[in-house]
Amino acid sequence: MRWCASNCICRFLHRHTPALTVALLFILCANQVIHYSSSRNTKNSPVCYQIVSPFAGSPIALQQQQQHNQHSHLHHQLLHRNANGSVYNGSFVGYYNYVPPDIQWSQARYDNRRMLKIYEWVWPSQLWEDLMDRFDVCLATQGSIDRISSIGEVSEKWLGPISLAVYVANNDELTVLHLFIAYMRKCSALFNQTVSIHLAVPLGFTSPNASSSSASSFDFSTYDEFPCGQPHQFIAYTIKNVLPDGVDKSGLYPQNHMRNIARKTCGTAWVFMTDVDIIPRPNSSFLLQEFYETPEAKCTKCAFVIPVFELEKSVPYPETKKQLIKYANRGLARQFHLKIYRYGHWATNYSLWITSNLDEEPVKVSHSVGGRMNHYEPFYISSDEIPGHEERFVGYGFTRSSQVLEARISGWKFFVLTPIFAIHWGLQTPQTIRSAPLPIPLQVLKIKQKDFAHGANSRRMQNSRNHVIYTDFVSELVARYNISMSRKKNQRRFPPARINRI
Ligand SMILES: *[C@@H]1O[C@H](CO)[C@@H](O)[C@H](O)[C@H]1NC(C)=O
Ligand SMILES: *[C@@H]1O[C@H](CO)[C@@H](O)[C@H](O)[C@H]1NC(C)=O
Ligand SMILES: *[C@@H]1O[C@H](CO)[C@@H](O)[C@H](O)[C@H]1NC(C)=O
Ligand SMILES: *[C@@H]1O[C@H](CO)[C@@H](O)[C@H](O)[C@H]1NC(C)=O
Ligand SMILES: *[C@@H]1O[C@H](CO)[C@@H](O)[C@H](O)[C@H]1NC(C)=O
Ligand SMILES: *[C@@H]1O[C@H](CO)[C@@H](O)[C@H](O)[C@H]1NC(C)=O
Ligand SMILES: *[C@@H]1O[C@H](CO)[C@@H](O)[C@H](O)[C@H]1NC(C)=O
Repeated sequence: MRWCASNCICRFLHRHTPALTVALLFILCANQVIHYSSSRNTKNSPVCYQIVSPFAGSPIALQQQQQHNQHSHLHHQLLHRNANGSVYNGSFVGYYNYVPPDIQWSQARYDNRRMLKIYEWVWPSQLWEDLMDRFDVCLATQGSIDRISSIGEVSEKWLGPISLAVYVANNDELTVLHLFIAYMRKCSALFNQTVSIHLAVPLGFTSPNASSSSASSFDFSTYDEFPCGQPHQFIAYTIKNVLPDGVDKSGLYPQNHMRNIARKTCGTAWVFMTDVDIIPRPNSSFLLQEFYETPEAKCTKCAFVIPVFELEKSVPYPETKKQLIKYANRGLARQFHLKIYRYGHWATNYSLWITSNLDEEPVKVSHSVGGRMNHYEPFYISSDEIPGHEERFVGYGFTRSSQVLEARISGWKFFVLTPIFAIHWGLQTPQTIRSAPLPIPLQVLKIKQKDFAHGANSRRMQNSRNHVIYTDFVSELVARYNISMSRKKNQRRFPPARINRI
């Protein structure tokens, strides 16, 4: 300090610390703004992977169409025909021989807070009864219509029962869903046989009236020409035609309601709860069925985590764990959401997972989950006795981590499986999901900035809204499970769990 007093730079720093801090913050903020505005210009690259095998209903036709660069041609043709003013007469009859289910709109089930009307088993899979006899694990998944195109690849990889809950915000979105299901049913026997679809609509949804739908100006018979094996292109094309303003983003997507619908319609002993764009490793249902029958799996209050990697879109789906790790070593695959919110999957310990069991042995536990489990939100398999997903969380933020927290507090333990895995297409960065992680003091600024740019429903706004709910939720857990505060602190550093055999 004495040295400091005689040094003028040091004295200056000492005296002007507050002003310097403000200046530094200002520079950081400006940097964020610049960064943000430049990131808005980065385009989302189109999904360019292609689904083959069970999907390609008529591979030859598909090849021919690709040779002629048919997609843009077809696109042109369809637009042209639409312009000819053919009228959709309110019936899907004649379109892929699709017979729309007769939904009794007044016979809904409501959620606890009456936000949604729920219609289960609207499109049951054709083999559901057999699948329920044969499998002890069912994949429960959910999505809005702009995401469900991944269900094709999911069914192709999973090869077992799937319960899909779909949310549609209005009549036109329902039209898109009908078209998509018709297309998938025509193109994929697997989809026909394994996917059961449940529907949820907002409370204010008015039952379909074809003549008032904007879909009425399209001639759906032209969709017959859309080649099989391109569900992503199909849904993008259909949304563009039927929904001129795109998918309704004015409301919040009720993720946890949808998760609960999908879970409760899986009749098997175990449920694998995912989001619809999480693609499991090939033949996962069989691999997990084998695991289910091992002594290691006979365990109460045990949840088995399946590591999810995000994968560069240009590489083929890894067939084995070894291949996945090769991708990871080359930077083409990494922990899901590593650059978005690394703690979401941190406790899974990917670096430990990739060093173990490289041979294709039957599925087994690799290691137990320990360490930092705050905000842990893995994708896992468990019995449905695990606590439900709290439906107060609507939109982004805390939807899965709150459920995992409650599970841990009520005594559930988490174990990581190997060599099974799942992937998400595309390496994600804050730019790809359009909301940047920030040092804490700047977070507030970012919310305002996003709010200004994207309206009150930006992902970050939803997240901060749910944070408020989360605080209440945690206090309630403390009361409900009668945990003393010191115990609560201990929850943060859960000791490595052991499997309790029964
Ligand atoms: C659309 O155009 C085709 C070919 O030009 C014609 O045969 C058909 O009748 C037209 N449809 C309607 C509804 O006008
Ligand atoms: C709509 O058109 C299809 C095929 O052209 C026809 O089979 C069906 O009966 C029509 N539906 C109504 C409600 O007119
Ligand atoms: C799916 O089921 C529908 C109706 O039962 C049938 O018409 C269609 O051919 C089936 N699709 C495949 C690919 O088998
Ligand atoms: C459907 O729409 C038409 C015209 O907009 C209207 O006359 C009819 O009453 C509506 N039907 C129902 C069931 O709402
Ligand atoms: C899936 O795995 C089971 C059991 O390992 C095997 O019998 C079956 O042939 C596999 N199916 C496919 C399509 O790979
Ligand atoms: C992963 O496990 C290894 C070995 O047990 C340990 O050294 C490391 O700290 C763990 N990493 C995380 C992120 O938990
Ligand atoms: C809650 O826990 C405290 C000690 O941790 C115990 O004394 C009390 O009886 C418990 N209350 C209930 C309702 O279980």
